[in-house]
Amino acid sequence: AAPPDADAIKVNQVGFLPGAVKFAVVPDGQARNFTIVRAGTDTVAHQGTLGPATAHAPSGEQVRLAPFTALAAPGRYQVRVAELPDSAPFEIGPAVYGVVNAASIKAYYFNRASTALAATHAGAYARPAGHPDTHVLVHASAASPGRPAGTAIASPKGWYDAGDYNKYIVNSGISTYTLLAAYEDFPALFKAQDLNIPESGNDIPDLLDEALWNLEWMLTMQDPADGGVYHKLTNLRFDGMVMPAQATGPRYVVQKTTAAALDFAAVMATASRVFAPYERQLPGLPARMRAAAQAAWRWAQAHPTDYYRQPADVVTGEYGDKDVTDEFGWAAAELFITTGDAAYYQAMGAPALQATVPSWSDVRGLAWMSLARHRQRLGTVADQALIAGRIDTLSQGLAAASRQSAYGIPMQGADYIWGSSAVALNQAMVLLHGYRLTGKREYLDAAQAGLDYVLGRNAVGMSFVTGIGKRSPQHPHHRPSEADSIAAPVPGWLVGGPQPAQQDKKDCPVPYPSALPAKSYLDHACSYASNEVAINWNAPLVYVSAALQALTPA
Ligand code: G3I
Repeated sequence: AAPPDADAIKVNQVGFLPGAVKFAVVPDGQARNFTIVRAGTDTVAHQGTLGPATAHAPSGEQVRLAPFTALAAPGRYQVRVAELPDSAPFEIGPAVYGVVNAASIKAYYFNRASTALAATHAGAYARPAGHPDTHVLVHASAASPGRPAGTAIASPKGWYDAGDYNKYIVNSGISTYTLLAAYEDFPALFKAQDLNIPESGNDIPDLLDEALWNLEWMLTMQDPADGGVYHKLTNLRFDGMVMPAQATGPRYVVQKTTAAALDFAAVMATASRVFAPYERQLPGLPARMRAAAQAAWRWAQAHPTDYYRQPADVVTGEYGDKDVTDEFGWAAAELFITTGDAAYYQAMGAPALQATVPSWSDVRGLAWMSLARHRQRLGTVADQALIAGRIDTLSQGLAAASRQSAYGIPMQGADYIWGSSAVALNQAMVLLHGYRLTGKREYLDAAQAGLDYVLGRNAVGMSFVTGIGKRSPQHPHHRPSEADSIAAPVPGWLVGGPQPAQQDKKDCPVPYPSALPAKSYLDHACSYASNEVAINWNAPLVYVSAALQALTPA
């Protein structure tokens, strides 16, 4: 028989807060018991009985859960089961998510456009500046009377979207918002954090400074003449696997779209209230953001169906979306919260707007989470029962899925789509809002399972975050990681994760090891459909790692 896989026992490879629910997943075999040993020793810290064998359809496995919630003593441990290699080591401790949270934010710094990364901040990943974006051409699809095709505008800063070097407003929307939401919910945690970025120590929390790098870019994507917002800033085709400074092709802003205007409006409305206390450091900026949000909203009202259509000469990412009812609802909700103007709440269409797990193309859930966060000061216009009900109902469904899953996670077969890792974390983010609203412990526990999933309790037995855990992606589809001639990838990035469509297999020299949804993952730089990184995937990792750190009872 083949030797058992070194990572046959699946466990969160970072670890757990002392008061958290704790599970490992063990392949079904002869064993009925397990122990938790002090890492690298035979000292038994906990003994337990494995749960019943259960089928996990997304991975075609029979597995048993190993529960060890009762073990709360700080330390470094491994799970041990007869006949199997010990699990990856993990830690139990009171600050166990500090490192992964900081790394997941620092990843944005590493993806900054238009600036050099200095060794003092970037260490081995220091690099020269790329993409100044001070001479960006208006593409024919974006031409307006004031800015005919070929007009040059300045649109510097921002983050590269992902493994590519383009900048997309739609995806910037949910990404930047989720970072701001993490700050709104857990300000004390972020005020105490030092990320060693150029702005550290400037009297603004580092997370907000990092978000500002992208917000400043986003503001340049609005046409001041009419309030419309360009959909993306892009090359005509993707760059090769080169460093930013080597990618010098012409850059364009492409088409104003309804989705871009609304995502921009939602984020600027959010940012104007988050930065309001920093008026002294950033004079005039909160008011400017608020006015920009309102101008974009008015443009969208006048252009309600301007969907993105990829021009014939452009082949980069689309982020196309032909249903913008959710974007309308989200922008209206944020404008309502920020301005207090009841007309925005009416425009949100709350009674018809459902709550769903958020993604770049479905932002309804963000509206409900923001309303829940601010519910105490919304006044009588907003329907409090409706807000609580939407979040609670969605959380109930996710918690039920978690109870029924052999891995004890909310993820189900259909959740293994492009960017599945972020599906797990956006589910967890919803559950954390459910927990904050209702205090139902099972929501907190199901959220924990989402983080456990991306950090190792998954069918491929690896942490999906670069540089974190015993076994993590070595070859993400990320141009700097490939081109920088450093063996280890840029740290702190969550890769997209398994999904069976394998849209990249024509571009890969090696096959995927499996076609099963939860195992269809390839740690190869060719695999943009399972192993790319992206700003919208890291954002819920920032949120969830902070939230569990802040909310888990001791
Ligand atoms: O939602 C459907 C699902 O119902 C269906 O079962 C499944 C079957 O494969 O498909 C799902 O839709 C997929 C969708 O992602 C899910 O969000 C589409 O097939 C898939 O093509 C789509 O992929 C998008 C991808 O771009 C290609 O357009 C990803 O969402 C999106 O995250 C990704 O974003 C790219 C940018 O365009 C460019 N920069 C890198 C970035 C990350 O890869």
